[in-house]
Amino acid sequence: MNLKDLYINFFISKNHKQIPSAPVVPENDPSVLFNTAGMQPLIPYLMGQTHPYGTRLCDYQKCIRTNDLDEVGDTTHHTFFEMLGNWSLGDYFKDESIEWSFEFLTKHLNIPVERLAVTVFKGNDIIPFDEVSYNKWLSLGIKEERIARTVEDNFWIAGETGPCGPDTEIFYWRSEDEIPEHFDTEDNRWVEIWNNVFMQYYKGKDGNVTELPKKNVDTGMGVERTTAILEGVNDNYESSIWKDVIALISEISNTKYEDNKVSMRIIADHLRTAVFISADPAGIKPSNTDQGYILRRLIRRAIRHAKALNIDINSDWEQRIAKLILEKYKTYYKELEINENVVYEVLANEKTKFNRTLEKGLREFEKVTKDGNDIDATIAFRLFDTYGFPLELTEELASERNLKVDSEGFKVKFKEHQEKSRTASAGKFKGGLAGDGEIETKYHTATHLLNAALKEVVNKDVHQKGSNITSERMRFDFSCDHKLTEEEKEKAEELVNKWIKEGLEVTKEEMSKEDAIKSGAECMFIEKYPDVVTVYSIGNISKELCGGPHVSNTSELGEFKITKEEASSAGVRRIKAILK
Ligand code: ALA
Repeated sequence: MNLKDLYINFFISKNHKQIPSAPVVPENDPSVLFNTAGMQPLIPYLMGQTHPYGTRLCDYQKCIRTNDLDEVGDTTHHTFFEMLGNWSLGDYFKDESIEWSFEFLTKHLNIPVERLAVTVFKGNDIIPFDEVSYNKWLSLGIKEERIARTVEDNFWIAGETGPCGPDTEIFYWRSEDEIPEHFDTEDNRWVEIWNNVFMQYYKGKDGNVTELPKKNVDTGMGVERTTAILEGVNDNYESSIWKDVIALISEISNTKYEDNKVSMRIIADHLRTAVFISADPAGIKPSNTDQGYILRRLIRRAIRHAKALNIDINSDWEQRIAKLILEKYKTYYKELEINENVVYEVLANEKTKFNRTLEKGLREFEKVTKDGNDIDATIAFRLFDTYGFPLELTEELASERNLKVDSEGFKVKFKEHQEKSRTASAGKFKGGLAGDGEIETKYHTATHLLNAALKEVVNKDVHQKGSNITSERMRFDFSCDHKLTEEEKEKAEELVNKWIKEGLEVTKEEMSKEDAIKSGAECMFIEKYPDVVTVYSIGNISKELCGGPHVSNTSELGEFKITKEEASSAGVRRIKAILK
């Protein structure tokens, strides 16, 4: 059995519920581009909201960290990784958490206790020394010399603000050398494998730390690193996670891993991340901003390194590698199965686009550097903007020629560019999707009523296909094979107005996606929703998965009037309506 399955089975045996991995692009948190830790999708629950699966949870979460993209190519860095996690939401605390980690490592992964060492929180002005964890480790047989007390490394928070707390980290001796009695945290032969955070605080914007309503546990164990350790390899890419991908790259390029480690690792890592980003329900496509730019950089950098290995870029090399990755992960992540073709398409399209400008860009690069000049911010930005060279590419080419790049200057220009394009797209949606004013909220609720009315009047197979709301009107697209008759339109309108007059209560509930579907709640794209969803009900006439907002009672809506009914596309009709 592999590590993921062993881990989940173990925590299920400790009465945890397995929750599905959230998408890599966070659904309700625009402050980050990607989930970077297992706890990120759980923040509302760590803050006190009730989780529909209960108080003991476990999962494997897809994570993406791109802050050290440049480090990829060594033995341990990856842009995508899977994090194993178990959580207590106000349920068990330090004792059980530490005990189970120890049991799992020593009894289920069979790691000898001699190879383990731990750190605990030393204490500072605000939070005291974590004596409970310290004593617990001692009681389990970890020697005093192997328990280090530190401050900086033993307090965990995802960013600047949010749920946080002291932690205890578990280290493994990853070396053939004799294991020293004393645990020296500076000795990098000790590698961290598991982090148990005791989340009982919240750090606000003002820097103040307050108590959370409940004492939680948040843990994280990296699948890639732990697998490599268990298999006794020092290079993660030699573990079972990567071996076959590396072998395929080796076959395609007709070269040996030993001779081209860096390029092969970069290709393997970047294509795996690109597969997961493009398969994500968020529907990210390569672009020059935000997640799209990360995706573009990853694919283009992989192409560059494939070229360095003399792979024929125009062959289907990247499709073959992607296919292998998809096969490896499909059973764990169903979106890879659903969006398999999307992945192939994204890769092929981006390759074509990059190929079109790559040669021209390389010529431009040669031209501007022929006198041995360093690359200033304007040139770096032109290479990006006109020739599609991500900064890393320019940097890599420059370093091969011992030239410098004004990367900081580039970043300033890039930021300006990002802001301009954000303002432009915000403008595009102004008054439309972006608006959540009072009138838009009413239209939201009216949309649900119309959906329910059409199901009664036309037939129950009517489903929403799209919606757009401005402060002036609502537009509703729905599946229907005929033009609505005058009678159907009138009846739908009457029904909506009847429900408005009845003053039906609008209620909101949180539940698991599964339960929502079971309860018959209506929704548009099921795979786009998170595992825990909000369901809005209107009296007993409508129940839909929806992010809201909605009015609290239908009596607030006024009078509903259909102004237009027309074809939208094949099998889809469109209604425009107003509230008076
Ligand atoms: N959230 C903790 C981490 O990422 C477990 O290390």
